[in-house]
Amino acid sequence: MKKFSIVVAGGGSTFTPGIVLMLLENLDKFPIRQIKFYDNDAERQEVIAKACDIIIKEKAPDINFVYTTDPETAFTDVDFVMAHIRVGKYAMREKDEKIPLRHGVLGQETCGPGGIAYGMRSIGGVIELVDFMEKYSPNAWMLNYSNPAAIVAEATRRLRPNSKILNICDMPIGIELRMAEMLGLKSRKEMVVRYFGLNHFGWWTDIRDKQGNDLMPALREKVAKVGYNVEIEGENTEASWNDTFTKAKDVFAVDPTTMPNTYLKYYLFPDYVVKHSNPNHTRANEVMEGREKFVFGECRAITEKGTAKDSKLHVDDHASYIVDLARAIAYNTKERMLLIVENDGAISNFDPTAMVEIPCIVGSNGPEKIVQGKIPQFQKGLMEQQVSVEKLTVEAWIEGSYQKLWQAITLSRTVPSASVAKAILDDLIEANKDFWPVLK
Ligand code: NAD
Ligand code: G6P
Ligand code: MN
Repeated sequence: MKKFSIVVAGGGSTFTPGIVLMLLENLDKFPIRQIKFYDNDAERQEVIAKACDIIIKEKAPDINFVYTTDPETAFTDVDFVMAHIRVGKYAMREKDEKIPLRHGVLGQETCGPGGIAYGMRSIGGVIELVDFMEKYSPNAWMLNYSNPAAIVAEATRRLRPNSKILNICDMPIGIELRMAEMLGLKSRKEMVVRYFGLNHFGWWTDIRDKQGNDLMPALREKVAKVGYNVEIEGENTEASWNDTFTKAKDVFAVDPTTMPNTYLKYYLFPDYVVKHSNPNHTRANEVMEGREKFVFGECRAITEKGTAKDSKLHVDDHASYIVDLARAIAYNTKERMLLIVENDGAISNFDPTAMVEIPCIVGSNGPEKIVQGKIPQFQKGLMEQQVSVEKLTVEAWIEGSYQKLWQAITLSRTVPSASVAKAILDDLIEANKDFWPVLK
């Protein structure tokens, strides 16, 4: 069996150790000869890398491990780029969340004005990774989960249309784990789903078991009562995420013929979200005090002790979809997975150039889309508005257009008026001057 070489871009990410542990646990299915980390923040990456070096030496000493801030070293001789960068890091996420809240608008990592601001930072960073990959390993594939995935995907469609980049999100996977639990299934892979939407903006329309039995009626009964708030073994869900999983009940009530993605709460209940937000302490603060502190603390402890033996870092099991995706490409497995791809008729009554999230069959030459047909008026209306937000943001980045970015923010369902949009935009421009192109 061929052994693969991987570069993790955003080596300093809080998710990197969990993904490394997950890769090490799946070596029988996906053999690896080399893991490299790439980041543009040497100091941050080093904390994670020193610990991962020890983990790899203890679990799979044959794997060659390298960490670097040099693109040529990082991107030469690789088969897969696993990309999860956060341009501007948590300091900028905090601003994305807090600036809109000052204007009475919700502040969220990937939705509303915060997501637009993050998109304006991410586009350049992700395009740069694509270019490094094409320069140093032209046969490689990029598996991208850098956010905001919807905007990043539209930007790569516009700017690098022929690049081998697959955009994927873990939210549907996380929700399907919960659905499987509610249905008493052993694995989410016992479900065959139909789904359509944009990233962080979609709906399940059909869920069946492998024998073809409809699982939606049983699921509806449960979701109507508790949303997706169920206990998952081995998962310690934080309070704010539990609120989101519970709120899915109200999102579901708006269209009980489908099952919603949890992110729809930001678009359908923005007033509720603002009311339940603390403008001085947002999700970025929770993550910095929680996941970031924990992961970096554990990594420092591993390096000090020289062993990962009693480390509390755990395998990010649900990230095994990354292995499924890499294997689909490497071994032509034809696995059915939700990906963010150009619509091109798969949703027949929707913009063919939109980047949509739909089931695809993935093989060695990439994804084949599964037609989802016509979508209902309610979802179509919402999606047309949201896809325009995403397209206008990318156009604003490409053209350096203040006007288009103002239009993008104005069009977001989370924003009440063009004047509020303008006030938020002007604050975001000031906060992002080190990251955004100059807008005229
Ligand atoms: P993090 O800040 O801990 O890690 C991101 C890393 O990227 C940092 O070490 C940073 O220095 C690095 N970085 C920033 N800009 C870079 C650039 N231009 N080139 C190279 N490296 C760069 O963030 P995190 O919370 O661990 O999240 C990482 C990313 O994964 C985010 O984009 C997040 O939104 C995304 N994410 C996506 C999904 C999904 O479903 N698609 C799930 C979880 C996280
Ligand atoms: C889900 C989404 C990601 C998002 C993450 C935020 O996994 O699919 O796209 O980045 O949640 O989680 P956090 O814990 O950082 O708020
Ligand atoms: Mn996501």
